[in-house]
Amino acid sequence: MSTVTQSNQSRHRSGSMSAPRVAIAGVTGAVGQELLKILAERSFPVGQLTPLASARSVGKQVEFGGKRYPIQELTEDSFRGVDLALFSAGGAQSRKFAPLAVAAGAVVVDNSSAFRMDPAVPLVVPEVNPEDLAGMRLGQPAIIANPNCSTIIMLVPVTPLHRAATVQGMVVSTYQAASGAGAKAMAELEQQTRDVLAGKPPVCVQFPQQYAFNIFSHDSDVGPAGYNTEEMKMVHETHKMWHAQSVAITATCVRVPVMRAHAESINLQFERPLSEAEAYEILHAAPGVTVVDDRGANRFPTPLHASGKDDVYAGRIRSDIAGDGGMSETGLNLFVCGDQIRKGAALNAVQIAEMLL
Ligand SMILES: NC(=O)c1ccc[n+]([C@@H]2O[C@H](COP(=O)([O-])OP(=O)(O)OC[C@H]3O[C@@H](n4cnc5c(N)ncnc54)[C@H](OP(=O)(O)O)[C@@H]3O)[C@@H](O)[C@H]2O)c1
Repeated sequence: MSTVTQSNQSRHRSGSMSAPRVAIAGVTGAVGQELLKILAERSFPVGQLTPLASARSVGKQVEFGGKRYPIQELTEDSFRGVDLALFSAGGAQSRKFAPLAVAAGAVVVDNSSAFRMDPAVPLVVPEVNPEDLAGMRLGQPAIIANPNCSTIIMLVPVTPLHRAATVQGMVVSTYQAASGAGAKAMAELEQQTRDVLAGKPPVCVQFPQQYAFNIFSHDSDVGPAGYNTEEMKMVHETHKMWHAQSVAITATCVRVPVMRAHAESINLQFERPLSEAEAYEILHAAPGVTVVDDRGANRFPTPLHASGKDDVYAGRIRSDIAGDGGMSETGLNLFVCGDQIRKGAALNAVQIAEMLL
């Protein structure tokens, strides 16, 4: 019996799958740990759990639903009988093992960048382009990609504005947290902060330069045009998800010594006028967005506010004053913050999986 047939057997007669068998590749990492938490919080029906990581983690356990599970090494044989494989073990592991998981009958939701720009792979944020999952469900093996965390946090609030007034141009600057680079980067920021305060020289391993009490250009590779890969992901992934190659987008991505949750300053230019009041109403009603915009109290989104939360926080909603002769109703500024381990990775992956049940 093939694994695909076994997978189909765990379907109800109605065709909907109950209690899928779930594997998490990269379960010990920042995203993997959050995946476990979110599956439990949202009562995702997990029929069987296979926690996977590198050989280094064999011998450790994870806890889920009141039970302890031994961590297994990620190998070619890890996906026999698995219906849903959530990957967060880095691009190299995804490239090698995701096709094997699909061959074994699983739907893969991949957090890495390995398949994002593959035209055959849907790149999905449920609030942005749920239509790209049409016809997909568990039991029908495929790969689905989760976008880059900065792209997700930008597009959750910007897409409803785009639907209303059509974005023609976007300038985004990011303020990215340590957690975006994984568990070891968070530990490095904490240790460097302690060392600097104690008068000791900081040790730089995960990043090539001091992170504590500093900011620097994003640590991804810089291409020939001077843009780093994080910046170009925001451009290319937005074009793919909006099915709109002509939107002019430029990004500047920067690391700031914040432990968790990214912030982004976004300037939007629309095809038609969109007033501050209309933008406020749209954002207020948008799924996955919480508006924090109190000018009187100078209270706007912060990474601390967004940490551990599901929504992207949006505020500083201002008409652009750089238009011809002053205030422009076709230009708008926003400041947003989002927990990129949750909505920027694990939560988005679980929301995709929920749409496949
Ligand atoms: N952090 C974020 O906010 C974020 C957001 C969006 C996407 N992502 C993507 O999600 C993935 C994981 O990120 P992360 O931040 O969770 O990283 P992380 O904290 O460094 O965790 C990496 C995970 O991958 C596992 N792993 C590493 N090498 C492996 C191997 N050869 N075989 C099997 N497992 C291996 C590690 O297992 P061991 O503990 O055994 O080494 C660990 O579980 C990356 O592709 C990243 O780009 C991260």
